[in-house]
Amino acid sequence: MKSMTLRDILRENISQVIEGLAGSLGVPNFSLEVPEVAEHGDYATNAPLMLAKSLERKPMDIAEELAKPLADERWGVSVAAPGFLNFTFTDDVLVAALKEVLEAGDGWGTSTVGKGKTVMVEYFQLNIAKRPHIGHLRSAVIGDALKRIFLSQGYHAVSDTHVGDWGTQFGILLLGYKAAEQEQVKKEIEIDPFAFLEDIYARENKKIEMDPERRTLAKEEFAKLERGDTENRKIWEWMVDVSMKKLEESAERLGLLPFDEHKGESSYEKEMPPIVEEALQKNVATHKEDSAIVIDLTSEKLDEAVLIKSDGASTYLLRDLATIKYRQEKWKFWKNIYVVDVRQSHHFRQLFRVAELLGYEGVGASEPAYRTGRHIEFGFMKLPEGAISTRKGTAIALDALLDEAEKHALAVIREKNPELPHADIVARQVGMGAVKYFDLSHNRKSDITFEWEKALSFEGNTGPYLQYTYARLKSILRKGGDSLDDIKEIKNVSLADVEHRLISLVLRYSLIIEHALQGCAPHILAAYLYELASVANEFYHALPVLQESDEQKRMLRIMIITATALTLKNGLYVLGIEAPEEM
Ligand code: ARG
Repeated sequence: MKSMTLRDILRENISQVIEGLAGSLGVPNFSLEVPEVAEHGDYATNAPLMLAKSLERKPMDIAEELAKPLADERWGVSVAAPGFLNFTFTDDVLVAALKEVLEAGDGWGTSTVGKGKTVMVEYFQLNIAKRPHIGHLRSAVIGDALKRIFLSQGYHAVSDTHVGDWGTQFGILLLGYKAAEQEQVKKEIEIDPFAFLEDIYARENKKIEMDPERRTLAKEEFAKLERGDTENRKIWEWMVDVSMKKLEESAERLGLLPFDEHKGESSYEKEMPPIVEEALQKNVATHKEDSAIVIDLTSEKLDEAVLIKSDGASTYLLRDLATIKYRQEKWKFWKNIYVVDVRQSHHFRQLFRVAELLGYEGVGASEPAYRTGRHIEFGFMKLPEGAISTRKGTAIALDALLDEAEKHALAVIREKNPELPHADIVARQVGMGAVKYFDLSHNRKSDITFEWEKALSFEGNTGPYLQYTYARLKSILRKGGDSLDDIKEIKNVSLADVEHRLISLVLRYSLIIEHALQGCAPHILAAYLYELASVANEFYHALPVLQESDEQKRMLRIMIITATALTLKNGLYVLGIEAPEEM
């Protein structure tokens, strides 16, 4: 169970008072949100406006009427047009809640509301024989943040990379491999296996373009692989091997949480025929004249969903259906989330619809499978030079981008703080933080253009700004020397406006995580952390901390700084970003 926050307490109070007033009409679904303007208090509710409809009365009259019984020693209530109630917590209540934050420590912001529920999160779906490029970055970074968000709320989050290791492109690769000079193969593989694989793939494609007959040969190579031909199997296994090593290496470099599965598309081969059988039997799928097997979704503007192509080959869609079945059986998921770019939204709409038509149940969920599946789509990340594309051979390798990020970060750090020990380690944390935060701070659906100056700036809405703020706070605490155990009972305090706002903001953290989880939207958390860092900066520029001579006040400020630093650190962790103690 989650402990009651001040907001929960307030909500319960409002509900009770409304019940008294509205009686059998029931409690409307009122909001209790943070007002945009700080002067409007810590929370505001639209309950009077909501009630006005059902009670057929003036909202302002209702607001006045509710305000009286809602008066409490823990908060002040005020009425605001056209029918809101604003609440401002007393300073003592805020300080008491602040102490609870400090007691929670690393656990601050976590909860167990998701206990017993399994959430499948699929991301960083690399393809065999291709090196990871920056197109994979968003999926990795967003997926990892989502896994962390779910874990923080007590869900059992399971991750899978759904490796792209199957399909007709392997016929092309096999044909290209065999056409290459064996001596050259050995040499090139040792130097850079991906350069070799990309090269044979590109060359073989060109040959096929010139001589379309050759496509049949490529198909035959894939068919042989499917039948388990020893030679093809061996070459394919080698490709899988080098690619999986690279995947692990990249995941580690990015600091992703460990994956629970790297289940390749190839592993679903055996599960596919029964699915096709079932679809035909249930009259969901039909044979076409060219012997393809499809599900007609044209009346729903979803086109034809192809299970088996006219040449008998299985499809990507069919493999995804098999994947759902497998995951239901193995993990009994409550939600099944795919972090995949927006180009595949049509595919996922088809997939969920077909799963519905086939009657796939959501195991362990009250909802049917088609609603437990969710496509978390994201837009493209571009570099200013232009779009990223593998096919044209202009792909920007993930490694190249990360190397560049570290190099830039090191230069910035050397300039800002030439004395910093372990500058290389900090540069790695800052470079990675800059790249990840740039991604996560944008609404995932928008296309973004990555710019070094923007991402690496120590000012504004950037990862380094948050990391720098954290390091500043920690440095104050190091100099402060007061351990929190010494903190005496702080009572009858009178908070400065910025202190009140900062504490109130810190306390909001658990609500923010809830919002980010519901929308699978890490940018909500990013925006919050940015606001927190901004107010923290305002706070320590406006008020003395270590120089404050009033002991009560100094203690209180140290508490505020400790809680703010803790919230920044916990929040950055949930985003997958490290927080160096010094930078
Ligand atoms: N490997 C695929 C591609 O590169 C993405 C996989 C997305 N996930 C899925 N379950 N279909 O296009």
